[in-house]
Amino acid sequence: MTRPAADFKPDPNSLDPIETASRDEIVALQLERLKWSLAHVYANVERYRKKFDDAGVHPDDLKSMSDLARFPFTTKEDLRASYPFKMFAVPEDQVVRIHASSGTTGQPTVVGYTRNDIDTWSSVMARSIRASGGRPGDRLHVTYGYGLFTGGLGAHYGAEALGCMVVPMSGGMTARQVQLIKDFEPKIIMVTPSYMLNILDEMARQGIDPRETSLEIGIYGAEPWTEEIRKAIETRADMHAIDIYGISEVIGPGVSVECIETKDGLHIWEDHFYPEIINPETGEVLPDGEFGELVFTSLTKEALPIIRYRTRDLTRLLPGTARTMRRMEKVTGRTDDMMIIRGVNVFPSQIEELILKSDLLSPHYQLERFKTGNMEKLRAHVEMNPGGGLALSDIRDQGTAYLQKAVKDNVGISIDVEVHEPGKVARSEGKAQRVVDNRK
Ligand code: DLL
Repeated sequence: MTRPAADFKPDPNSLDPIETASRDEIVALQLERLKWSLAHVYANVERYRKKFDDAGVHPDDLKSMSDLARFPFTTKEDLRASYPFKMFAVPEDQVVRIHASSGTTGQPTVVGYTRNDIDTWSSVMARSIRASGGRPGDRLHVTYGYGLFTGGLGAHYGAEALGCMVVPMSGGMTARQVQLIKDFEPKIIMVTPSYMLNILDEMARQGIDPRETSLEIGIYGAEPWTEEIRKAIETRADMHAIDIYGISEVIGPGVSVECIETKDGLHIWEDHFYPEIINPETGEVLPDGEFGELVFTSLTKEALPIIRYRTRDLTRLLPGTARTMRRMEKVTGRTDDMMIIRGVNVFPSQIEELILKSDLLSPHYQLERFKTGNMEKLRAHVEMNPGGGLALSDIRDQGTAYLQKAVKDNVGISIDVEVHEPGKVARSEGKAQRVVDNRK
């Protein structure tokens, strides 16, 4: 039996003092650290020095946090052009670790860490696990991939720093994941939400009721997931589903996280990562509460300090609740995830929500973009959810009719739907690939 969320609320005395500091204290610390970061990149990274000079700004121009808006953005292209190490701001002998993005859409980007950076990262991850309900002594199963991806090692070091007993499982070998969860009885799992759904199916295959396992908390991130997926996991597995966000260029997992007692958006560890929301078209900074693209500036990072990094993630900033630091709303879309289908903007998360609302369909899905002639089209491949006494052919027909109508009514476009038998849609063992582009 999983305990209620309130039982996992951390003792205020166990928090880092900055987690409950006043806004004034937080802003004062941010300003001091931001001045240091700007001076650090200007002195040590040629690309930043040139970009600042071209924009006619100098680190000394920063008098208050709002002056940051005068400084140029950094993008993935900056990092690609600096491949592999040219944006590092410290001599190479001070870099103790690198990670890299998978590079599925071009050259990979490489990020580096000094020993202090690893300590910072471990401490924000330890905070994140504590905010999610973790405590020293808890058993914690890490399913994020170990290796160049930041998920596995980021979670691992944070969990160790908090004092958990870590099971460094990494991704894949789903049957074995289930076996070890059964044998080691962890309280916490850290995994992508799409892979968790896969693991829950595997439990069912092995005759294990996911509600009866030792797991009480899942810390899910690395990909967008909707409130409907949260409900599905919480009900099917009787566990708390907590959202954790991160991005390699900023540090990795642990940039922001939900607090288990509120689950109302992700508190950003603002003493290390300064957020802005901008209009993605004009670059203008938007006030808190307005939707736009999330931009981050690191305040303490040594090896790869990052100034105004455009994440392409869409969200808005909200005031703090369980902590004094600001929250970001759950990220359910990216600027580059957005499909424009016959003039209508569509995010995969909109279709995910509708799939999850039907008992006929399972949460395993993939969207295929294709063309007939000049006409751009979208096809949803989704698995059926057998049961309820219906024949498979009826589930297929009713599921297809449901999803076509739901998408037409709610999103405003006509799509093709193919409802497949269980196990026929590509399963995630890490980050799910939600969109397949077959337009060429
Ligand atoms: O995915 C770091 C991470 C690992 C975060 C484990 C959480 C847990 P990247 O591979 O650089 O880093 O991918 C970063 O993933 O810009 C978002 O688009 C997406 N993303 C990460 N966390 C979330 C989340 C890791 N909680 C990119 N919700 C980001 C939605 C997320 N999207």
